[in-house]
Amino acid sequence: MSKTALISGVTGQDGSYLAELLLSKGYTVHGLLRRSSSFNTERIDHIYQEPQDFGRALELHYADLSDGVALVNLLRDIQPDEVYNLGAQSHVRVSFDVPLYTGDVTGLGAMRLLEAVRASGIDTRVYQASSSEMFGSAPPPQNELTPFHPRSPYGCAKVFAYWTTVNYREAYGLHATNGILFNHESPRRGETFVTRKITRAVARIHAGLQKKLYLGNLDAVRDWGYAPEYVEAMWLMLQQDEPDDYVVATGQSATVRQFLAAAFAAAGLEWTDYVRYDPKYERPSEVDALIGDAGKAREKLGWQPVTGWRELAELMVRADIETLEAELSGARVRVDR
Ligand SMILES: NC(=O)c1ccc[n+]([C@@H]2O[C@H](COP(=O)([O-])OP(=O)(O)OC[C@H]3O[C@@H](n4cnc5c(N)ncnc54)[C@H](OP(=O)(O)O)[C@@H]3O)[C@@H](O)[C@H]2O)c1
Repeated sequence: MSKTALISGVTGQDGSYLAELLLSKGYTVHGLLRRSSSFNTERIDHIYQEPQDFGRALELHYADLSDGVALVNLLRDIQPDEVYNLGAQSHVRVSFDVPLYTGDVTGLGAMRLLEAVRASGIDTRVYQASSSEMFGSAPPPQNELTPFHPRSPYGCAKVFAYWTTVNYREAYGLHATNGILFNHESPRRGETFVTRKITRAVARIHAGLQKKLYLGNLDAVRDWGYAPEYVEAMWLMLQQDEPDDYVVATGQSATVRQFLAAAFAAAGLEWTDYVRYDPKYERPSEVDALIGDAGKAREKLGWQPVTGWRELAELMVRADIETLEAELSGARVRVDR
């Protein structure tokens, strides 16, 4: 019997890679689609199946993490074997501008989903997308035993979601697992996150379409991995007999400045010629250094990262240059859904 999964955040970076992975394993995948006035399915266009396709393996449903009743209805109807909660207002800087919304969707949203699992009485396994931002100012290297000290509304909301997941596991015996993932990027990373903002700008500067790139703090140290490898870890966590919490990271670190230099160099450019500082991109409270220790995931899940941050910067620049060339030549056309 093939398995069924429900993914919140299926239209996001991780959701799109996870949907691909599960489809390749023979799952039927249901994705939660939030209502938007513009198309928000671009990342899953290549695996999209028309509602009229007989026996389709990917199905999208309108719902929202702010609507608990919709979540109960969806879970009761689908009866998934696995639920991946990847939906979130996931931008740290933006969470300072919309703290209550971030708390509602990123924090309470996880509780709504867990409560919907409990209320619908289904037998399922739950993955919660926890984040290295929960560690905040706790010094590196960070692992599953490191105390949390979040430094943003996003980090606070993720800590709430983390402990809610642990509580539903302890109180109700749910198979609920936290994946504490350190930063992971790809050509599908949201365009306003620093790595993608950099690699898109490199492609545009390279094509003569952009002159300057404005950034905030270049000294932040991050542990950047490759998103398709990280969704594999999510899946592995839900295949374990017992629920648990796992850090997923490369253990390697670089500053934003180093990533920047590598990305510009990948296109034969010198970053100092183009990058300027704008304080508007600074966070009111910063997270200085995140470097993960993923020893437990390696030991218990057999998971290991392959792609390092430098290779990641290069592959993202290559992808953004190719995408831009396809757009400029008219070879790439937006698909209507
Ligand atoms: N990428 C990382 O480095 C990283 C690290 C640790 C943890 N995480 C967490 O892992 C998850 C996936 O990350 P990602 O990089 O794939 O994020 P992302 O690209 O920003 O995707 C977020 C997803 O959540 C959806 N969403 C937003 N608000 C929602 C709402 N009210 N109801 C339902 N869905 C909603 C978005 O829908 P739209 O497409 O319509 O906007 C999108 O599908 C997130 O929870 C993120 O916080 C990410």
